[in-house]
Amino acid sequence: MLLTTENLGKRYERRGVAVDALRAVDLEIEERAFVAVTGPSGSGKTTLLLTLAGLLKPTAGRIRFRDKQLEGFSDAQWASFRHANLGFVMQNFSLVPYLSARENVTLPLAIAGSKGAAQKKRATELLERVGLGDRASHLPRELSAGQQQRVAIARALANEPALVLADEPTGNLDPALATDVLDLLRSLNEESGTAILMVTHSPEAARAGTHRVHIEDGLVVDASLQPA
Ligand SMILES: Nc1ncnc2c1ncn2[C@@H]1O[C@H](COP(=O)(O)OP(=O)(O)O)[C@@H](O)[C@H]1O
Ligand SMILES: [Mg+2]
Repeated sequence: MLLTTENLGKRYERRGVAVDALRAVDLEIEERAFVAVTGPSGSGKTTLLLTLAGLLKPTAGRIRFRDKQLEGFSDAQWASFRHANLGFVMQNFSLVPYLSARENVTLPLAIAGSKGAAQKKRATELLERVGLGDRASHLPRELSAGQQQRVAIARALANEPALVLADEPTGNLDPALATDVLDLLRSLNEESGTAILMVTHSPEAARAGTHRVHIEDGLVVDASLQPA
């Protein structure tokens, strides 16, 4: 198993009000799976994703990644775990606006310490893979929303992560562009074997997944994880 959560809980406390965003989430994500997590707005999807990435600390439960228990990791351990194992795709693309497509894709490679020429070559290959080989020198604002999300996907794959975490990756895209991005995620999942955990409020987007999980009010209500 790539990732397992047991009894995962996250309680936010704000001004004396407690919100149980995750109650007792048990999940199992197989190596190479494309898991679509659906649920209405406010059901805890983003909280789940951020907790799995160590960007929020769970208030209960356990997270195992392959043979590592993660829930007790320090911030530094989480940071190196993320660099080594995870890629991220967010709803608003989160590209650096003054860097070209290639430079955006290069960022995680630079952090990982690979050499300049090798970085450029790898970034170019990744952009070709997402269909943007001819747009490497363009700034994000010179690209359409769908193209920007492709750059973000190329960046997420730069360090060959075992798992890509995607939060509403098609939430800001028109339906046709959303379909393109979902097809791209599906084919990258099939070709590269990178597992994907995608959260979405859209049942249509969820159809791209090989497995589905549904959460409501911080609880998994359909954990069948049956292949779609
Ligand atoms: N930083 C926070 N502080 C307090 N409550 C929060 C915070 N972030 C999210 N919540 C609450 O936790 C619940 C789940 O939110 P979220 O994970 O963003 O859901 P989703 O991504 O499914 O829309 C909601 O009730 C939301 O209001
Ligand atoms: Mg959300």
